Amino acid sequence: MTDAQLAYRRPPGPDKPVTLGIDPETLSTLQALQREYGDMVSLTKPNGRLAYFVNDASAVRRILVRHHSKYHKGPGFERVKMLLGNGLIVSDGDVWRRSRTMIQPAFSRQNVHRLMTVMVGCCDRRAAHWAEICGRGEKLNITEETSDFALELILISIFGDDYFSRILTQGENPFAFLSRDSTRDLAVVMKVRQLRHLLMSIIEDRRIRAAKDRFDFLSMYLEATDKQGKPFTNAELLDELMTLIVAGFETSANTLNWVWYLIARHPDAETRLVDEARRILPGVSAVGADSVNSMHYTQQTLEEALRLYPPVWLFTRRSHVDDKLDDYDVPPGTDIYLSPFVLHRTSHYWQDPEKFDPDRFVATDQAKKDRPYYPFSLGPRRCLGEYFSFLEMRLHLGLLLPRFRLRSLDTEDPGLELGINLRSATDLFLQPEER
Ligand code: HEM
Repeated sequence: MTDAQLAYRRPPGPDKPVTLGIDPETLSTLQALQREYGDMVSLTKPNGRLAYFVNDASAVRRILVRHHSKYHKGPGFERVKMLLGNGLIVSDGDVWRRSRTMIQPAFSRQNVHRLMTVMVGCCDRRAAHWAEICGRGEKLNITEETSDFALELILISIFGDDYFSRILTQGENPFAFLSRDSTRDLAVVMKVRQLRHLLMSIIEDRRIRAAKDRFDFLSMYLEATDKQGKPFTNAELLDELMTLIVAGFETSANTLNWVWYLIARHPDAETRLVDEARRILPGVSAVGADSVNSMHYTQQTLEEALRLYPPVWLFTRRSHVDDKLDDYDVPPGTDIYLSPFVLHRTSHYWQDPEKFDPDRFVATDQAKKDRPYYPFSLGPRRCLGEYFSFLEMRLHLGLLLPRFRLRSLDTEDPGLELGINLRSATDLFLQPEER
């Protein structure tokens, strides 16, 4: 600890240096720190840098919402940076602001609604595949299924028909490794390089033969311009497309994986979900934004799954100017650790926090606004894909649950894999039956 650091008013915390990363040990460390010191903890990292773990709901809100401009993205995203270059998730300051302003319109509700037919198509393909598996009496690897579902959906949403003509024709889906390979080895580096090459050639083609009647994220990104009327360059587009794929697929896939796990263990919730789906979506012709948005119990179930298993379980910021949180000083260069996983399971915020109870999400709009809950982050950097992902996940459950019962095979908890995303440590297998 330097003299300058000692002069600041800091929250309580341990004297010895603490190592934090994006890994399982970090979750145990943060939980232990919270138990011992409370919701605001200060610590020194082995490299001497000051860090705060902030689990106080109003301080989290202040960092992410009102004081957001005092913070940049923090440490721990080196692997992600390798994939995303300077795309929206990792960029900061003016570069981020320009991209966010250009991209945000693509995510309007109206645009997302136009992608609902793609969502239904992906559900239909899963249903056909699950029916075959039922016919063979095999088990269903739901981790793989939800991953394939979400990957296919985001790729068709981005590339439209090019998904079928340019990506599927490459043999094994060249994006599949993103979900299956968690190691940073040379093979992954090579795959990323090949992928960027493929994306660049799709972008270049689209510049030459843009079709007016096309509707997908790539066509919207190609048309976006900044305040000076300048479009994205090809290199910028490449980073933004990679960002969209990485941000939009594992998060939804992991949420659906945990939702199926929870449903298989809670028959009461399952009955209510099936009833709701049959009532609101009696057939594909009933699918529309209004009907899917009125699936309230399904929405509550998804929100409860995201409370217990927030895919982005840990994120970080680094202050670049002085800030103050309550009575505490935040000097420039302080690393901030925020964990939705820890906060969502803190007992003074959530009664009986380990219990799965979708009914806790029946709430008025005001209560919703104030609750200590941030699976999609908060403020100007809040997730852009929140509406897209809820629509995708409600449709997935609404179209598949009334057709298939997925029974639990093991009583054991699959455990947590705490990487950039919160996955199940092992793939989940369920026994499917047609209803
Ligand atoms: C259950 C699903 C999802 C969850 C839990 C989730 C969560 C998050 C979180 C926590 C962040 C902020 C990370 C940080 O500030 O460090 C974020 C950012 C982002 N998400 Fe999502 N996400 C989900 C789905 C999606 C989908 C489907 C898309 C796209 C179709 C998407 C696109 C983005 C983008 C572009 C950003 C960067 C926003 C910015 O920095 O301005 N996300 N997401």
